[in-house]
Parts: sequence; structure tokens; C-alpha cells
Amino acid sequence: MKRKKRVKVHFGNLIILIIIIGIGIFGIKVLYKQLNSDDTNNTNIENKIESDSIKDKLVNLGYSKSESEEIINNLDKEEIEKIDKKYDYLVEFSKIKYFHIENIERYINLKNKSDYSYDEIIMRVNTSIDKEFYTDIKTVDNPNDLLVLVNKFYALPSGIEPNDLIQVESVKMQREAGEALKEMATAMRNDGLKIILQSGYRSEDTQSYLYNRYVARDGKEEADTYSARPNHSEHQTGLAIDVSHDGTLEEYFEDTPQFEWLQDNAHKYGFILRYPKDKVYMTGYTYEPWHYRYVGIEVATLIKNENITFEEYYVKYKGLY
Ligand code: DAL
Ligand code: ZN
Repeated sequence: MKRKKRVKVHFGNLIILIIIIGIGIFGIKVLYKQLNSDDTNNTNIENKIESDSIKDKLVNLGYSKSESEEIINNLDKEEIEKIDKKYDYLVEFSKIKYFHIENIERYINLKNKSDYSYDEIIMRVNTSIDKEFYTDIKTVDNPNDLLVLVNKFYALPSGIEPNDLIQVESVKMQREAGEALKEMATAMRNDGLKIILQSGYRSEDTQSYLYNRYVARDGKEEADTYSARPNHSEHQTGLAIDVSHDGTLEEYFEDTPQFEWLQDNAHKYGFILRYPKDKVYMTGYTYEPWHYRYVGIEVATLIKNENITFEEYYVKYKGLY
């Protein structure tokens, strides 16, 4: 007969084993805590030394101790590192949200020749309008992006066309904008309003032709107030549409029920009024109640609710400066 082997565990030994394991776990925990708190202490000490040395640097540049502290509180380390001398109004400017140290000389310049608030100065400089229009032009690297910014400082690359154009009645539009435009026009008509899609996508050649014709008629200075130079027109993106109630594009469009409807509803289809009456100084174009730009429902709603231009949207939400 086979006998089962029995493992005999002595009760006393078991208790000792449990105690040893318990002490082991406790020890590891204490050690872990100690190491962590050493790390935190070290980081705190390092931070303190670093902030003292940044403060010393600022004081050496001529800022008072309290100014230095304010600047350190207001700005990121990377920005503070770029401060290389004593700047007038730096403390005041550094309090403003969209401040960029790279622009400090331009902020100061505008401050010295205007009565604008610090906020206003930062917005004006970050949108470049402290400069002459059509100077320091940058070519955009996202021409097919639905949020591409095209204005007098940002140009589309020459020789490109939008990827995906569709025909909407008499105009061509980028697909997503075109689908939205169809829906918007249908909704307007369902509300009993006549709407004509007057001008959508334009090629570089067409924009060139139009602009040159206006220059020949009115001179360059005048033409620049209402027509974009080639590669500076949103119409080349296939995201902009001019609408009309009677086949004209005139300021009196703002007195029509069509315009009122668009004021209330365009954002629901992803469109914004791109060249508002009160922002001519920023867009560089006279008021165009007929020109709508597709940016998608979310961004259009935000821009409408905040009553800002697309340029201001870029400063606030895309970090433009
Ligand atoms: N009229 C607008 C500004 C354009 O030419 O694109
Ligand atoms: Zn237009």
C-alpha cells in the first residue's frame, strides 16, 4: 500500500516566515519613500537654485528684484532665457497671455507710438499689422488644410491647386466646404431667400487677371483695399464663397434678409464672415458682407461667439506670432 507523503509544516516556522516577509515588504516601502522624497527634495532645491540664478541674471540686466520675480512668474523658462537686456514695459507685457519675447521690440515700438492697451498691442503685433501689408510675407506650408490662413502676410505657394474640388451650381469649392455650401444654400432657399453663388474657387491665373484688371482701373493702392494679390486670395483655396441676392457684390448686401440670415446661421454650416466692417485695419480689406470663408462648424462658432477675425483666432488658438 502506498502511503501519501505528508509535508509537515511546523506552525512556529510559518509565523517566522510571515514575519520575515512582512519586514521585507515594509523595508522596501520605506526605502522607496525615502528615495522618492530625496528626488522631490533634490528637485525643489534644484528649482530654487535655478530660479535664484535666473533672478540674478535679470537683476544683472537691470530689472529690480520685484520686477524679476514678476517676470519669472509670468514667463516660461525658455522665454526668460531669451531676455538679453533691460526692456521697457517688459513686466506689463509679460502679464498678457499671447506675449512672445521674440516680438518685444515691436511691442515696445507700438507702445511708444500709440495709446493702445498692452493687450491690443500684443494682438496687433502678433497678427503683423504693425507692419506694412505685403511685407515679410511667409508662404504657408499647409495650403490644403481647411484652416489655412491666407492674407496679406501669408501667401499660398505659387502653382498649386486644391486637392479635391467639386462643382456646386456655378462655382467650384473644396469638397467639404462645397458640401457645407450646398446645405447652407438649400436652407436659405427653404426659408424663402434667393441666393446666388457668385464666386468660389479661383485659379492663380484668374486671381492674377482680376487683380491686374482692378489695378489698371483703380490703381494699385485702391485695388489692394478690395482685391487680393495673386496667391493671397482665399478664393484660391476653394474655401471661400461670395454670395449675392441680385448678382452684384455691393455693400448694400448687408441690408438684405439674406445677410441677416447669414449673420444668424452661417456658422452652423462652418462659414465665417471673413472681412467684417469693424476689422478693416486687421484684414486689410474693406468690408465684404458677401465673402464667407469655410473653417468648419466648431471654429466658425467660436469665431462668431468671440466676435474675432480669423487672424485673432490664429493668435489665440494656434499660437500665431
Ligand atoms: N476680395 C477678396 C479679398 C479677394 O480678392 O480674395
Ligand atoms: Zn470673396
